[in-house]
Amino acid sequence: MTKNVNRRNFMTEAAVSGMALASLKAQVANDKPALLGGKSIRKKPFPSWPVVAETDEKAVAAVARSARWGRFPGGNVDRFEEKFRSLIGAKYCVATNSGTSGLITSLGALGIGAGDEVIVAPYTWIASVNCVLIYGAMPVFVDTDLETFQIDARKIEAAITDRTVAILPVHIGGNPCDMDTIMAVADKHKLPVVEDACQSHLSEWRGRKVGTFGTTGVFSFQSSKNLTAGEGGALLTADVELYDRCWSFHTNGRRKTSTAPDFTYDTRGANLRMTEFQAALLMVQMTRLEDQTKIREQNAHYLTSLLREIPGIVPARMYEGCTRNGYHLYCFRYRKEQFADLSRDKFLKALAAEGIGASSGYPPLNKDKFLADTFSTRGFQRTYGKRALAEWHERNQCPQNDKLCEEAVWLYQTRLLGERADMDQIAEAIRRIQKYDGELARV
Ligand SMILES: Cc1ncc(COP(=O)(O)O)c(C=O)c1O
Repeated sequence: MTKNVNRRNFMTEAAVSGMALASLKAQVANDKPALLGGKSIRKKPFPSWPVVAETDEKAVAAVARSARWGRFPGGNVDRFEEKFRSLIGAKYCVATNSGTSGLITSLGALGIGAGDEVIVAPYTWIASVNCVLIYGAMPVFVDTDLETFQIDARKIEAAITDRTVAILPVHIGGNPCDMDTIMAVADKHKLPVVEDACQSHLSEWRGRKVGTFGTTGVFSFQSSKNLTAGEGGALLTADVELYDRCWSFHTNGRRKTSTAPDFTYDTRGANLRMTEFQAALLMVQMTRLEDQTKIREQNAHYLTSLLREIPGIVPARMYEGCTRNGYHLYCFRYRKEQFADLSRDKFLKALAAEGIGASSGYPPLNKDKFLADTFSTRGFQRTYGKRALAEWHERNQCPQNDKLCEEAVWLYQTRLLGERADMDQIAEAIRRIQKYDGELARV
């Protein structure tokens, strides 16, 4: 049917289609990534961290007023140890002033020293390796499982030598590593496991909280962590003798029962004690941990369902044994082939312009210059010799980890602490970037 176009309805139609065009144009402009002049998807900041309420202020003020700021028997640190031990389901707990201190205490109490090798993950925060180096021992890196971001447990056994004295797996981002395989290898070779659970508060493997599988499990309460007092740490163990050694180690070798003028010592050690302020704050912060973890979990699951639909975005997989991911980080791989070769840096820049800050994560730790510098020090040269150190570089190639370090993207835990609609915005921003990937690649 042909329309009867008279001047009047022509004008009306033209006006309407003009309006439609204008609105379409506006839509396209809106649709454009902020980096190309469009409007950013997100104006509101993500939830701030940490949560601070009157109860936190009161707890800290009470310690200040008490004038007992350092650890003392029956104080906040004792109480915190009991609460944290019971929350995670461990037998014994030693609170420390940081996660690094918890790792140092664990390895110190296990007698690690120069000439020893400790198996470590290359995809982690430097503290998981520094705690080995500080004893003059050698970290031996086992490659990463690209799909999960975790140490590839299937490759651990091949890295064990007669110098290996411990395995130090890390549950990176809160996603548990394959504890079945790790514990089986450790049992077979009678090696202690120091579980770096610094990023995995409330994460679970087969219904049991991580940090309780290893000979020790270590947590961090540093500023960014899902449970924080600015700084702080805790070490858990089920072995009473090791607990006593750790306890002594973290307070310069003194016994738990030592009284003031007692100048006898059980072990080497350092002052790695938690303060009463940290413990008081942590006990208040702990009351929110379960609820916050549930929110992160729900949002993360929803986000995964959205991101899975975007070609080139590959959310980190969890192992079958993972019954809870604590989501300190939401990790995915960015495959630029599906984004017209738009570099990860530009992708992150475009995402930030949409109001969604994200990180490119760790560089390959096994290749870092600080290792070569450490190995060139007197003690390392004397202990291992030039040849062994040169061989170390050959033994410690981690090609999967190298690839992961090029592709990884992290969203920090606070991105998951808000509303479900925030997840829609994150996915929308990525879809928008993909739609304009070619143009973005050219700017
Ligand atoms: C995986 C991992 N290990 C160890 C640590 C060390 O903890 P802290 O910073 O409390 O010393 C951290 C945190 O920073 C971490 O993320």
